[in-house]
Amino acid sequence: MTLTDIVKSAFEKAFPGEDLGGIRVVPATDPKFGDYQCNDALKLAKKVGLKPRDAAQRVADSLDRACFEKVEVAGPGFLNLTVSQSWLNSRLAALDAAPNCGIPQNGRGKKIVIDYSSPNAAKQMHIGHIRSTVIGNAIDRIFRSLGYEVVADNHLGDWGTQFGILIKGYRDLLTDDERANLTVPVLEKCYVLSAAKAKEEDGVWREECKAELVKLQQGDAENLALWKRFIDISIAEFNRMYAKLGVKFDTYRGESYYNPLMPGVVDRLLKAGLAEESEGALVVKLEKEKLGVAIVRKSDGGYNYTTSDLACVESRVKDYDPERIIYVTDDRQQLHFKQFFSICGKLGYTVKLVHVPFGLMSYQGKAISTREGNLIKLDDLLAEAVRRSKAIVEARAEGAAEGPKAAEGDVLRLAEQIGFGAVKYADLSHDPATAIDFNWDKALALEGNSGPYLQYAYARVKSLLAKAGGDGASGGVAPMPNGVGGFLVAGPVEKRLALQLLEFPGAVVRAAEAYKPSVLADYLFQTAQLYSSFYQNSPILRSEEPVRSARLRLCALFGEILRSGLGLLGIETPEHI
Ligand code: ARG
Repeated sequence: MTLTDIVKSAFEKAFPGEDLGGIRVVPATDPKFGDYQCNDALKLAKKVGLKPRDAAQRVADSLDRACFEKVEVAGPGFLNLTVSQSWLNSRLAALDAAPNCGIPQNGRGKKIVIDYSSPNAAKQMHIGHIRSTVIGNAIDRIFRSLGYEVVADNHLGDWGTQFGILIKGYRDLLTDDERANLTVPVLEKCYVLSAAKAKEEDGVWREECKAELVKLQQGDAENLALWKRFIDISIAEFNRMYAKLGVKFDTYRGESYYNPLMPGVVDRLLKAGLAEESEGALVVKLEKEKLGVAIVRKSDGGYNYTTSDLACVESRVKDYDPERIIYVTDDRQQLHFKQFFSICGKLGYTVKLVHVPFGLMSYQGKAISTREGNLIKLDDLLAEAVRRSKAIVEARAEGAAEGPKAAEGDVLRLAEQIGFGAVKYADLSHDPATAIDFNWDKALALEGNSGPYLQYAYARVKSLLAKAGGDGASGGVAPMPNGVGGFLVAGPVEKRLALQLLEFPGAVVRAAEAYKPSVLADYLFQTAQLYSSFYQNSPILRSEEPVRSARLRLCALFGEILRSGLGLLGIETPEHI
């Protein structure tokens, strides 16, 4: 039984038939108060006509004492709980035996869509794109681990006025050679040059761009083929980044996919009496909700971002029937999502819509933009990450006197695992809501609260287990015949680690509920620190049996949890560093 179940049954025994609401048992804020605390007797006291401390005492008297070393009623009516060794050892054994490190399968049978990364086509990805990609992918992995069926959908920006500018530029500004060997950097240059010409006084170029756009929208075969080529080249380039980052999508339905559905959306808005004319445009008024006005058809007849996202919901509901759709974008889009979620509500959609906004990434205090000239390409960031971690891997290899020399390919692979781990963790360890000012050293931190610090902790525990003659997980460490799966937690430092390990499934659940991978990153960092104090405090290989095996099992469990947790953040865990 979990601790919450044990305490809940004590409440049931103490107050039979009473509506208890939720009973929450949380880790104690300070170990001197015990291991856990529960404050729910306070709430209940009034209802049952008892003084809060008396209500808490009644629960204390009903608790199964075999599970606790000490139970105290404290302050105005808190319950402070110190768990018993036997309870702790048996919980560790249960966690150790549970599949997926005990992550509950709350999401079984539920489907969700996660819309993330979603870059705009014909542009190179820059450091600003790392956030949606890495945060979205961690949320994706976390929900999958909870048993949800996830559709990861890359909502590419692959439609809109920029394609008129691009097509015109492609035809008239590129060399034959550039046209034959089209790449994303060439497309980007083509866009910049053509967009600059579209700003010229006489407006001729601008009109010609518009004409190309209209032809494209009307399905002109040549323009469609060009557009398709631009998109294919862009996706191939994005995929090159995703492969490095270990990010996979189930589908790439860009904005263009929803284009044919837009007139239908507008019809439905009109039929439902939600849209009205305003200065030639069609709008949905959301003033009552304090969300202003959302345009759904511009005065020139064109549709916009809101219309496209409405069509997108319609299609996702029809195709997947998800219980939830999660959108991961920067926080400048908050109003857009509030408006369009509100319209979805009015249209009667019951699917839960969630926007996960993240703070914008800036560089040297300025928004990242081509115009500012402060754009660092994602490719360059990743290359630098590998360069820095390779230097460290090589220095370490040199320091290790014995053993065969690692092959160049292995060194590079390890440098990538560490370098990409560093980049991801640097982002994921921040609450998504905070803005980040990009800094090379912080983005590539290899020490302190960093990805490599955790990867190194994992490699170290693995090598300890190997030295002990088994890796724990594969049964190298034999369970003890004392009936508690070999765990024998003793002493405060070991106990802190053990209690923390038990919190892993809860940390995964909390990260999902808050849509914040940072909750899990914090948990893992704290766990690694507790492990490190345990390791320094408690002899392991030099201990006598059964303590030696029991401690090795704790180490193995720590290793498994670290591997699983980092995996949920998309961070690899090499066995040797
Ligand atoms: N392409 C957009 C951007 O670059 C993000 C799209 C997010 N998804 C959505 N369904 N609106 O900001």
